[in-house]
Amino acid sequence: MMKETPDLLPYDKDPWEYDFLVIGTPVWAFTFSPPIRSFIVERTFSDKKIALFCCHWWGKGSTLEKMAESLDGNEIISNCDFRDPKTRNSPEQMKKAVVWAQELREIFSNPEEEMQEYEQEQNNLPIVEIVKETQKANDERDFEPPIIPPLKKK
Ligand SMILES: Cc1cc2nc3c(=O)[nH]c(=O)nc-3n(C[C@H](O)[C@H](O)[C@H](O)COP(=O)(O)O)c2cc1C
Repeated sequence: MMKETPDLLPYDKDPWEYDFLVIGTPVWAFTFSPPIRSFIVERTFSDKKIALFCCHWWGKGSTLEKMAESLDGNEIISNCDFRDPKTRNSPEQMKKAVVWAQELREIFSNPEEEMQEYEQEQNNLPIVEIVKETQKANDERDFEPPIIPPLKKK
């Protein structure tokens, strides 16, 4: 039963448009749930960076390992599990989620890429805008104009 791939309801985001994905599942019979299997099979991801998580009650078994296996060809960068967060919702579970989210943010943020995007934006600016920006930056700078001596008459 857990190997079934039921039809999914339509969703409006295309995961293929993202480099980084976070995929989570409830644990059912010590593995990931059939709808998540459908999602993985349907989309056949490759070359993505993926973080996995699962929610379980008494034991997660090898859920995360099995999920990772079915996502072969991708890079699994992190994983985490939560103990029945919906019903228990304990402060420890909340804290664990926040700490994990912060960890993912650090892994996912790429200052080099951000800088390249910024430079690209600058390159695409029309020349008048670049001149205006440079002028503004100069005006704001604490700047002593040089003293130019008067021209001597010959
Ligand atoms: C059909 C079914 C099978 C389950 N099997 C397991 C299991 O093998 N191990 C476990 O720890 N919890 C199991 N649970 C409990 C759920 O994994 C747990 O309640 C989880 O937090 C549910 O997440 P959700 O609230 O996001 O649906 C099962 C629940 C259901 C409905």
